[in-house]
Parts: sequence; C-alpha cells; structure tokens
Amino acid sequence: MKKIKIGICLSLFLNLAFGQQPSVKTIDQKVDSLLSIMTIKEKIGQMNQYNGFWNVTGPTPVEGDAANKYDHLKSGLVGSMLNVRGVEEVLKVQKIAVEETRLGIPLIIGFDVIHGYKTLSPIPLAEAASWDLEAIRKSSEIAATEAAASGINWTFAPMVDISRDARWGRVMEGSGEDPYLGGKIAYARVKGFQGDDLTSPNTIAATAKHFAGYGFAEAGRDYNTVDVGTSTLYNIIFPPFQEAIKADVKTFMNSFNELNGIPATGNAFLQREVLKGDWNYKGFMVSDWGSMIEMIDHGYAKDGKHAAELALNAGSDMDMESYVYVKYIEELVAEGKLDIAKVDDAVKRILRVKFELGLFDDPYKYCDLGREKKVIGQKAHQEGVLDMAKKSIVLLKNENELLPLKKKGQKIALIGPLAADKNSPLGSWRIAGDDNTAISVLEGMQEYKKNKLTYQEGVKLSIGENDFVKEFKVNTTDRTGITEAVALAKKSDVVVMVIGEYSYQTGEARSRTSLDIPGLQEELLKEVYKVNKNVVLVLMNGRPLAITWEQENIPTIVEAWHLGTQSGNAIAQVLYGDYNPSGKLPMTFPKNVGQVPIYYNHKNTGRPTNPGDDVVFWSHYSDVSNEPLYPFGHGLSYSKFEYSNIKLSANAITENEKIRVSFTLKNTSNIEGKEVAQLYIKDLFASVTRPVRELKDFKMVTLKPNESKEVSFDITKEKLQFYTANNKWEVEPGNFKVFVGGSSKTSLEADFSVK
Ligand code: GLC
Repeated sequence: MKKIKIGICLSLFLNLAFGQQPSVKTIDQKVDSLLSIMTIKEKIGQMNQYNGFWNVTGPTPVEGDAANKYDHLKSGLVGSMLNVRGVEEVLKVQKIAVEETRLGIPLIIGFDVIHGYKTLSPIPLAEAASWDLEAIRKSSEIAATEAAASGINWTFAPMVDISRDARWGRVMEGSGEDPYLGGKIAYARVKGFQGDDLTSPNTIAATAKHFAGYGFAEAGRDYNTVDVGTSTLYNIIFPPFQEAIKADVKTFMNSFNELNGIPATGNAFLQREVLKGDWNYKGFMVSDWGSMIEMIDHGYAKDGKHAAELALNAGSDMDMESYVYVKYIEELVAEGKLDIAKVDDAVKRILRVKFELGLFDDPYKYCDLGREKKVIGQKAHQEGVLDMAKKSIVLLKNENELLPLKKKGQKIALIGPLAADKNSPLGSWRIAGDDNTAISVLEGMQEYKKNKLTYQEGVKLSIGENDFVKEFKVNTTDRTGITEAVALAKKSDVVVMVIGEYSYQTGEARSRTSLDIPGLQEELLKEVYKVNKNVVLVLMNGRPLAITWEQENIPTIVEAWHLGTQSGNAIAQVLYGDYNPSGKLPMTFPKNVGQVPIYYNHKNTGRPTNPGDDVVFWSHYSDVSNEPLYPFGHGLSYSKFEYSNIKLSANAITENEKIRVSFTLKNTSNIEGKEVAQLYIKDLFASVTRPVRELKDFKMVTLKPNESKEVSFDITKEKLQFYTANNKWEVEPGNFKVFVGGSSKTSLEADFSVK
C-alpha cells in the first residue's frame, strides 16, 4: 500500500510541477525534473532491460533471468522489458513498475515486430521487392496497430542493414543491397510504426538497427567480423540509418559485430562521434541482446564491469540482457571510472521516449483487453497484408506465356513440400505469429474451381520438427513421393512446383554456405521436368538463391519469398493473372555462391574488361562470368514495357542546378500493368572511386494496353552528393552518365557534366 501511495505521489508531483504551470510544459523540462528526484539506483534501473518469459531471442544469460526479475522490477531497477506480450501479461509487469515502485516510472515494452505482429506481412526483403513505399508504410502501420493493442509500445524494427551476401541469414530482415532503396524503405517503415502522433495508442516507437555494419559480416557468417573502409561506411552503410533519423526514429539498436576492431556496443566513434555527435541524434541506443557482455568474448572487455564501463562511455544507453549496467554502474561512478553525467544523459534519452509515448499520462493506454480482441487479425489487416504480398512477388522468367494460368479446363499438378505448407510462408521473425496460420498455395489455388487441381508433396523438405531454436534437419535421404509426383506431372497440363526454404532456414543465426535449393527438392523438380516441360516454379525463400539450372531449363519462375499470412492467396492471384506482378529484385541473384558477394553497384576496378581471348589479366573468374543470374532491379510483368527517347533538359549544370531526365515508357502488350521505372547515375571519376552505377530514384508507372507516357526524374544536388575524400558529403564537378530502365542492367543512357 505504501509503495502505491509513493507512485501516486510521483504523478501528483509531475502534475503539480507542470500541470498547473502553463509556462512549464516541455517534455525536456519534465524529464529534467523527474531526473532530479531519482536516486542513482533508479537511474540505472531505467538503463536496464530484461527479457520476459517467451521467445528468448538470444542466449539465456548464465544467471538465469527469472531469479532477480521481479525483485528488480519491484525496486525500480528495470526500465524496460522485451518479449512480454499480450495485454494481460504486460499489465502484470506494468502494474508492478507503476504502482509498487517509489517513483512509478512506466516500463517501455519492446518486441520484434519485424513484419507484422499476429497478422503477418511478407518478410522485409519481400516487401522491399515491391518498391511500393506506401504499401510498406501501411504494412508497418498494421503491425503497429496489432502490437500496440497487445500491450507493446516499442518495436525493434526496421532493420536497415545493407547486405550483399545472401549467405547471411538476416538478409530476409532487411531491404537488400542498395542504400537508396533501403533508405526510402527505412523512412516508410519508421513512419508506419510511429505514425504522426506517438501518443496515439495505435503507434509504437521504432528502432533503427543494427548500428552498424552488421550486414557486412565476413563470409556471410552471422556475428562475424566486419572490416570496412570509410567510403563503404559513409556511402553504403550509414545512409539508411540517416533516413530513419529523418523519419524521427525514436531509438537505435547497436550490433553484435566488431567494426574495424571495436565491437559496435563499445564503439564511441559510431555511437558518440557519429550518431550523437555529427548526426545530433536525441533518441536512445539499446544494446543488442547480450552484446555488452559479449565484448569479453570479442577480446575487448576484461570482465563484466569493464564491459559496463566501455559500453556506457561509448554511448550505449540501455543494456539488453547483459546484466552489467544493473550490476556495476553504481560502483564505476563511485570509483570515478564513469561520469554521472553519462548516466544522466542515457536516462534522459530513455525518459524522453517514455514521455513522448504518453506513458506518464496513461501507463496502461496499451492495455485494453477489448481492443486487443477486436483489433488482432481484423479484415482490414488481412486485406492490407494480402495487398503487400501480391506486390512483393517478382516474376523472374515467363517463357511460352505459361503464366497467367488459364482459369478453366486445365489439369494442374501442384507439387512440392511447400505447396500445402501453412508454416514456411510465415517467414522467420514471426515471433508473435501463430504457427500454421498462413494461407497455403494449395488453399489459395483451390479458390479457382474451374480447373482440376491435384496436389502431391513430392519430397519432404525436412526430417524432424521445424523448431525455431533447433538446427533445421534438411531431408537428403527420403525420396518417398517422387514417383507419385512424376506420375501426376505426366498426366497434367501444367505443373506448379512450390519449393524453397523453410522459414527458419533464414533469419538470425541461419547463415548457409550454399545458395542451392535445399535437400532433394531440385532432384524432384528435375524428375518432374523430364516428363512435363510446362513447369511454373514458385520459389519460397528468404534470400537470393543460385538457381542457374532452373533459369536455363524451367520456362517460368516466380520469386514468392515468404509472404506471410495471405501468402497462398497472393500467389494464386498472381498465377491466375488477377494481379499482374510488378515486383523488382532488391538484391542480386548469383549464378553460384562463389560469386558472392555480388551486387550491382560494384566498383569498376582497374581491369574491368576482357582485353581479348588470349589475355587473362583482367578482373574475372575462369569458370563463370562476372554477370549475375538476375540483376538488382530485375522483375517481369505480364505486360511488356519499352523505354525510349531519353532526353536531358541540360547537358551541363552547376551543383545547385538540376537536370530533368525524361523518356518515353510504353506498354506494348494488351494487359494493363505497373512498371517500376528506375534512374541510375554513374560518376565517371571522383576523389574516391564510385560505383559503376547507383540507384538515385524510381517511380511506379501504371500503363494501359499500348499506352505510352512521358516519365521524368530530376537530377538534383542530393542525387549527386557522396562522402568524398575530404570526409564530407558534397558534389564534385565532373562527367556523369544517367541511365533509365526496368533494372540495373538498363542501357538507355545519356551524358551530362557538373561544372
Ligand atoms: C536479437 C537480434 C535483434 C533483436 C533482439 C531482441 O538477437 O539481433 O535484432 O531485436 O535480439 O530480440
């Protein structure tokens, strides 16, 4: 009872201090005043985040976190919890924080709402393939609405790590290889999560993660070493984080990796000099799970106490599951190894977000049981993720017009271990989604009743259970089912083959050394193809795959990723032409894993071209060409688009002038379609070498049959700037090429110069 009275005193104090004094109303002043009455233990408590009881998304700490969770919660030593979800469970911990601690400071409740909460949208890499920023924003808004209705007020998303290495399991969680597309998507996702009013009970604080360089792990092995130069850091890795800040992202999360010899969590260059210094970032930095204590394994911290000192001095504000802030900061301040000003700065940043969320006005605003029941899974959300899923599908190849399927009179064989699978399409990082809740391809195709549809699994994808935390056992031995599948294919008009990766073959800690279609699936495909050439290959995967044999043999290939709850309906509507595919690859597909890392915005090198048949001294492989299997930006439609007639409004400008690039885009087919027209720029020489081309703009253009439109882009200073050898963002005079087209391989170009 005493503690509740104290909690009420705090709210009275805040009201008295600010409620009746119209002049004193800024959040910063409320933060300062609250800070002034906090003990050092209470300050440290705000910097301490504990895991809840589900979804341990990292290695459980040695001490076991149940022991001190409640004691610390009651004594105000916990400022945040993660993986506590659902109104009932959140209420339990929030009531302790608000009503049983001395100051009653509400918890901020974090969760990995990566691509939906219960109603799952496509994995982020799939969403990126839509290039549809409004659909992506909407998708995040749906996720936020459901998460907020379940007591969560902070998501650890968007992940904005650029990556060029498909071996890395977390490419599924990002937006691919390009900083311009990745930046635009980062902005859209933050806006979707946070909305325009963070005090609304339907919006949640977002997180730009993982700062920084995580996607450049050596050999694509998760958590591995990262060593990159200044130009890559500033021109490729940083821009999406800067776009997230432009969208007012409230928090950052650092990364597990070391960057150029210093773990990100203890990296003052990253967190203090760049983020909080140059970029003047006002939000707070949460560590990744256990990343502080892992500085011992990195060989950077002597022990836990040293890790706490390094992390706070380097600008990590909140400790996720390392237990080092709660254990050692008071001692380190007393010993003069940590300045209390750094503690105060961290606490102010955290309190500011809690005030901005409106948690001090109503700590239970996210805890409305009735709303939770009404909001989760509602029809509008199903429609929203279906729309997102359809737009995420990429048509890689479509010979003999095998697609769209005829809607009647066809004998269709639906074959493959993922064809009836209701779990794989949910993708990795669905940690609040319920297993087996996806619409399968079989279910989606059964909606089209005028064809004879027969399903055969063919082969199993895995042996044993498909469990999130256990290693996935790929089936490489059990060929049961291939014979029946071949027999079915033999007597069918068309085969729709659905194969690929299971959800948890991608995601965190799921790096692969192979980019082949796992297990016996390709063998199944080849056996079926021997008896029926009319194969539509539908891929479900969370990373680019090296499908060279498929590209050389299979007439039609659809990249369907892991599309979330409405997967089967989206795929069926595309296969039957009720949605004309418009997706474009956000990441290069290699011919084989030996080409990796392979990406479109590569450098030219000093020996870029083949000087002649008998000369070998140029940058190439002796066994495979340098070309990718499918380039960044590639994606077909049932329509046919032609680009022509590129024109520039000027051929020479000063850096403060702009050039308008215009061209004609024609739909030469008799099917209305949408094309993502892309603009690339090449800087021919500069103070640091520049990529052979870089995406600098794109536009979604819808064209009726045989319709032409003049489309234009403006080349402005912002599209010419880069981080130069002078260590600043600027335009350098010189000669440039501009390209427009439907992929990064377009050859429609024009020249201009900057004086
Ligand atoms: C994980 C991930 C991070 C996630 C966090 C909390 O290890 O690296 O992205 O937000 O822990 O689940």
